[in-house]
Amino acid sequence: MRGTTFKWANTLHQVRALIPGCLLLSADCSGPQYFMAPAGPAAQGLASLGWFVMLLFIAVTLLVWGFLIWLACRRHGSLETHQPVETGGGLRWILIGGIAIPAAVFSVVFIAATEVVSHFPLEAGADSQVEIQVSGKLWWFKAEYDADGDRAAFSVATEIHIPTDRAVTIDLVSDNVIHSFWIPKLHGKVDLVPGRTNRIRLQADQPGVYSGQCAEFCGLQHANMRLSIVAEAPEDYNAWLQAQAEPAAGSENDGTENEETGGAGYGSEVVRRGAALFQDAACPGCHTIRGTPARGVLAPDLTHLASRRHIAGGMLPNNTANLSAWVTRPQSLKPGSMMPDSDEFTGVQLSALVAYLQSLE
Ligand code: CUA
Repeated sequence: MRGTTFKWANTLHQVRALIPGCLLLSADCSGPQYFMAPAGPAAQGLASLGWFVMLLFIAVTLLVWGFLIWLACRRHGSLETHQPVETGGGLRWILIGGIAIPAAVFSVVFIAATEVVSHFPLEAGADSQVEIQVSGKLWWFKAEYDADGDRAAFSVATEIHIPTDRAVTIDLVSDNVIHSFWIPKLHGKVDLVPGRTNRIRLQADQPGVYSGQCAEFCGLQHANMRLSIVAEAPEDYNAWLQAQAEPAAGSENDGTENEETGGAGYGSEVVRRGAALFQDAACPGCHTIRGTPARGVLAPDLTHLASRRHIAGGMLPNNTANLSAWVTRPQSLKPGSMMPDSDEFTGVQLSALVAYLQSLE
């Protein structure tokens, strides 16, 4: 069915090859968030619609300029050399050019848009075994994965993994303000609205990291509310699920013992000290590290922090320098975020704490 639907779209894609689209749009055609380079069926429909609308409007623009040039060239001279022309009021031209033609053009665009949206992979019965709940926080995205068999439920921040080649159902929610979930190469913008659940299905045809961002102004750090969709082959995805569902490296599995260190079996003395510092500081009030006493739910789950590419809602690469800066001066890096500045660690303690965080693979 999709093949038929997008037949016209495929023709447009062939036309696209003949047009220097980058020049026309002044856009970065290879950019990570270029929506005209779709990587899944929903984005494919939107990109086709984008090309269709752009070509249609270019045609209209050329037509209008053609008329203007024709008018400019049609008559030369002044009123002395020409008799005044009887135009008959020109009402017919206004009705045709000002109402009938725009109405026809916008009707075509409306029908094309409706057609594209109606073929988003949302049909009942679509093959979708994967369900993820994504919540908009201030200012980061939280993704929750359900328990399955003996695999425990878990949540991650900012980096959402999905398997390739199958429709993934994502429920979008918010417990604060309105955000918008937008992965340009995979799906159009869909809002996360407090008090309701918006459901989308997205699919990635190829493995890769697809970046996105919040697309609804949601406060001070709206522009730094980013995320990545990591699409992996199903085997890799399943391995990731299993790894993420495990408790933190070096921790007690049940989290009831070793309150002092937050766990046992750490690889080095520095990491062990870092773990103890984490548990003694304010960190557990907001963060969870599964397998340790840290059970806070306000901030990202750090159980497998070291496996993520970014921290701070996708704003900073996950490395030693950024982790150290983020632990001590988040308000300089991301003013207004919920993470408070901290002066409670000496340099040596900070190194140990960061070493511990980097051990959480
Ligand atoms: Cu969340 Cu903008």
